[in-house]
Parts: sequence; structure tokens; C-alpha cells
Amino acid sequence: MKFAASRLDPVKPSASAWVSQAAKDAKARGEDVVDLGLGEPDFDTPEHIITAAHEAALRGETRYPPTNGTLAMRQAAADKLNRENNLSYSVDEVIISNGAKQVLFNAMMATLEPEDEVLLCAPYFGQYKDIILILGGAPVALSCPAESGFRLTPEQLESAITPKTRWLLLNLPSNPAGAVYSDDELRALGAVLEKHPHVLILSDEIYEHILFDGRKFLSFAAANPSLKDHTLTVNGVSKAYAMTGWRIGYGAGPQPLIAAMTKVQSQISSGACAIAQAAAAAALNGPQDAVKEFCAAFEARRNLVVERIAAIDGLTLDPPGGAFYGLIGCHALIGAKTPDGETLNDDAAITAYILKDAGIAAVPGSAYDLSPFVRISTAASLDVLAKAMDRLHISIAKLNR
Ligand SMILES: Cc1ncc(COP(=O)(O)O)c(C=O)c1O
Repeated sequence: MKFAASRLDPVKPSASAWVSQAAKDAKARGEDVVDLGLGEPDFDTPEHIITAAHEAALRGETRYPPTNGTLAMRQAAADKLNRENNLSYSVDEVIISNGAKQVLFNAMMATLEPEDEVLLCAPYFGQYKDIILILGGAPVALSCPAESGFRLTPEQLESAITPKTRWLLLNLPSNPAGAVYSDDELRALGAVLEKHPHVLILSDEIYEHILFDGRKFLSFAAANPSLKDHTLTVNGVSKAYAMTGWRIGYGAGPQPLIAAMTKVQSQISSGACAIAQAAAAAALNGPQDAVKEFCAAFEARRNLVVERIAAIDGLTLDPPGGAFYGLIGCHALIGAKTPDGETLNDDAAITAYILKDAGIAAVPGSAYDLSPFVRISTAASLDVLAKAMDRLHISIAKLNR
């Protein structure tokens, strides 16, 4: 008997989940595996945020919250967007959901007609495509290779837009490449979009605070005020405050879009956990020292990985401008032979070899629609990353090219 509906047929099992499981299985067999597959900060949630959750529970904030989010959390998100991003939203233009991921899902569910096209900048966060496929939309991947800094160009955007284009999905800075756009580049994309008012823009800014080399973050809607009414700004507390398990994300955009997303959310979950919303509000309203500390740690890790990869013949990595990943180019390894005589035909084979020989769990670039690359997460300590780089160096040197 077939249990799953056919709408799930195009959705492939997640590569990062597969990698994570393979790493767990190897560990269970007693193998020494370094798991660099996972995209979550390895820090603890700051204590004042946990205290805020505790106090909210004791105060009795234990009942169904409003579907679109508690007033306190919507206000905290609106204040944050005003303070940090120079974006003015009323509390009715904000929705709080179970993670940024549910904001994305709500937005797509609320707006996509069958076969509506959604433009994605490859390499992209794999779930974007899956969400669109589940909902019967048509993901359109625009290839943004390393040579263009993994960034979309205005020319590419212009030629990709059709009457069926519903959304452009941007991720600033991006997972998996850590791509960052200059202010002018964001405006140049905006100039193209202004000519096509039927296209909505979803700007996923979840890695906003993990930005390196002294860069200042500019939100897409702030760079393009004339497009604010066509833009859904998506953010959350998972990455910036080490709060992946609390499952709080938010979206801000035109009120009718937020209302439609709220309708979706009312049928899916009735809203996000009230206690977690109190914690997230404390994160946004409270001291921001931890955010800066986490970013500094991620930058030191990025520096270590970039330096060590540069010393490995056959691998390339331009310094990512933000987020906590390294998307390592491995073009030179395609066709290489392992010591067992196996040929490495693609990045999935390279990832499998690295897991087996070096004991490093990483995700193939194919999971992000750009090959041949291997993504490692730098959400691990400097010692762990140094150990992984030592092992990677030895395993790559063993290949016969
Ligand atoms: C680009 C991007 N957007 C959204 C998310 C999901 O964030 P949340 O934990 O808030 O659902 C992730 C998580 O890995 C991500 O990489």
C-alpha cells in the first residue's frame, strides 16, 4: 500500500539528514567521526533568554497564543526591524511562526498557484525547493557559480522572469556559500524587480548577524524601499542566539500577505509556543553581547578553515562573507581514484569517501543544486575543525589523480 500522497513524490530525502544519520551510524560502530554536516550553532542559548522563558511560564503564559504571535513578540520583531534594519512595520505586518522555516512554508502555501515559478539562487538552502515542490509550484534554479561569488546578477534575474514568476527567494548571507551582496548589488537586483511588479521577493535574513570582515548588514527591503510592499523579510532567533530548538522565526511584509499566512498557520499549528515566544522577545529586546561573541567565534573558525583548505591541493575555498559554512570546491577531484580503486565521479562520492577515510561528515553540493562542492559546517570548536582539516589533508593526498 502506498501511504504517501503523490504530492510528496518529487521530494527527495534530505541529504543533510542522510549525512547526519550516516555519521550517527558510524559513531555507533565505534568509529571516530567529526560531524560537520549540521547547520546549527554549537553554543548554548544565553541564560537571560532561558530565564525569560521560565518567568513567562510561571506568569501563566501557558495558553494558546494569538495565531499570528503574541503582541510582545510581534512588537519585539517590529522594534528589531526598525532599530537594526531601518524598516518600519506595524505589529499587524508581522507574523511569528515555528522557525523561519514555517514562515517560508506559510508564505508559499498562502500564495502559490499550481506551477507558479519561484526563482532560487543555486546553491540554495535545500528546503526552499522541497517546500515549493510539495505545494505544486515550480522551482527555477539560477546557477550562481563561485566565479560570480555565488551571487545572482541583474542580467540573470531579468532573463529568468516570466509571467509565471511568483517569487524570487534571496538568502542574505547565504547557506551554503556564505555569499554576501554589496549594497549596490542589492539595489541593482531591485531595479530589475521594479520593472516586474508581479514578482514578490522573499529575503531570508536568518544569518544576518553572522557577517565577517567588518561588513554591515543591509536588508533587501531597506536597500529597495520602493519594493518594501512586495517583500517578505524573513528572520528568526535560531542562528543568531543559538536557539534552534526553540523554533521561533518571524516574517514582516504587506498586511494582506501576513493575513493570508496567518490563515495558513491557523490550520497548521494555531501559532508558535507562547513560552518560546517570550524567550525570543527577550533575545531581541535584551543585551546583544552573545550575538557578537558568536559571530567572532564563527569568523575565527572560518579563518582557520580557509587557511587550511588553501594548503590542500585539489580543494578551493574563497573566504565566505558570512554564515557558518564552507562550500569547498572539489572540481579537481572528479575522476580521482581512492586507495581502494574506486573512482570519484561526483561530489556525493567525494563526500562518501571523506566520511569513510577521514571520518568527516559533510554534505555534497548536489544537495544545494551546485556541484562539485562539499559543504562543511563551521559550527564546531577550533580544535575539532583543526583535527578535521588534518584528516582531510591526509585523505585527499591519498587520492590518485
Ligand atoms: C537559509 C536558512 N533559512 C532558514 C532556516 C531555518 O531556520 P529556523 O530554524 O528558524 O526554521 C535555515 C536553517 O538551517 C537556513 O539555513
